[in-house]
Amino acid sequence: MTTPRPETLAKLTPVLTKRWLSPDAWRIDTYEQLDGYAALRKALKAHPDDLIQLIKDSGLRGRGGAGFPTGLKWGFIPQGDGKPHYLVVNADEGEPGTCKDLPLMTHDPHALVEGVIIASYAIRASRAYIYIRGEAVHAARRLRNAVQEAYDKGYLGRNILRSGYDLELVVHSGAGAYICGEETALLDSLEGFRGQPRLRPPFPATHGLYASPTVVNNVGTIASVPPIVLGGADWWKSMGTEKSSGPMIYSLSGRVANPGQYECSMGVTLRELLELAGGMQPGHNLRFWTPGGSSTPLLAAEHLDVPLDFEGVAAAGSILGTTATQIFSDQDCPVYATYRWLEFYHHESCGKCTPCREGNYWMVRVYRRILAGQGTHEDLDTLLDTCDNILGRSFCGLGDGATSSVTSSLKYFKQDYLDYIEGRTAPKLSEKTLVGAH
Ligand SMILES: Cc1cc2nc3c(=O)[nH]c(=O)nc-3n(C[C@H](O)[C@H](O)[C@H](O)COP(=O)(O)O)c2cc1C
Ligand code: SF4
Repeated sequence: MTTPRPETLAKLTPVLTKRWLSPDAWRIDTYEQLDGYAALRKALKAHPDDLIQLIKDSGLRGRGGAGFPTGLKWGFIPQGDGKPHYLVVNADEGEPGTCKDLPLMTHDPHALVEGVIIASYAIRASRAYIYIRGEAVHAARRLRNAVQEAYDKGYLGRNILRSGYDLELVVHSGAGAYICGEETALLDSLEGFRGQPRLRPPFPATHGLYASPTVVNNVGTIASVPPIVLGGADWWKSMGTEKSSGPMIYSLSGRVANPGQYECSMGVTLRELLELAGGMQPGHNLRFWTPGGSSTPLLAAEHLDVPLDFEGVAAAGSILGTTATQIFSDQDCPVYATYRWLEFYHHESCGKCTPCREGNYWMVRVYRRILAGQGTHEDLDTLLDTCDNILGRSFCGLGDGATSSVTSSLKYFKQDYLDYIEGRTAPKLSEKTLVGAH
């Protein structure tokens, strides 16, 4: 295991993670001792429009995967329209490899609750929801407890801190479907319908929850709001890069010595992250990795020095996504890894549109054939052709994301596919898996 050098350690910028190691960090007393709810007191004295401007000035971009500018999104909410406004926090965190929102809600739930109150005040919402993944029982319990503590202390409910502002906050547990992380499917699910994406336009900013103006933001986005209110836009922009400001929680998993969450200024490289995480596991050499979860195209060892911000990763041909860096070594097979991800997308496809529903079903079967040693050279063309018919033709991002590891693994690791097809690699799947595969 390698020890990080001081200059690499200096890349750590704990802002959202700064309380995680404090004893009982999830309790309101601890939170209050560590700056907690100071930002709310400051925010409630400001005009809501000034808060929206502050978030615009900070350059904060959504932490849910797409990196949409948060202040701009808040500014889309029509004001004076006489309709109820809603803030919905997306705490579904279903992207394989992603592990930043659940630890945040488990260790520091009040950071999210405080962010919810400030964001709701800014967009003039008097009701907010946190939609949390159903399996995340522990995080949900901590969150519900934090919400109750906040009500008891007068941070939620009527006339918050005697400001005249009212807010009700509801924590809603989903039933564990990846598609319910897609914001419009999430809204349908929250309304009690089957979670499937909605046709856009109209967008949630005008026709969201209960057909009313709604902001949907990721947990990390909303938890970034209190530190920005306290520290100011310039302080926030002093971290990160010009177009990707602030710190980001990178979750490292796989063949790494110390997997976990590392919060660094945006633009840190995988080489630096690996050094912080103690290097690769003994006996393993980096071969491929995802910069932002399984929906983002794979990168290879040659990309160790790519700046992990929105622009840097895009320039390298991938997507920053949820900064879920899954690390694979020379002992892992990119064909098998891609197959396992496709099984996931096939299982989680909501079935609303044909390219994703049928395309993923079909690709899973082609992969099984290749991994069982019965693939053909034409199978590789079939995979690329199927991806071509899914990407950009699916109703939502799930379909697009499913193609990422297929096309990128064929780009960087075609030889691994050929080795199965031409018999140089022993089959990984038995012929039994091929029942119904043709
Ligand atoms: C299939 C699919 C799953 C998604 N899952 C999540 C999720 O679990 N959490 C999340 O914040 N965003 C998820 N998103 C992105 C959301 O649709 C949306 O862009 C995000 O919540 C907006 O928040 P932000 O602007 O703060 O990033 C998902 C998107 C797709 C297409
Ligand atoms: S792309 Fe997949 S998940 Fe999205 S609407 Fe179509 S079938 Fe459903």
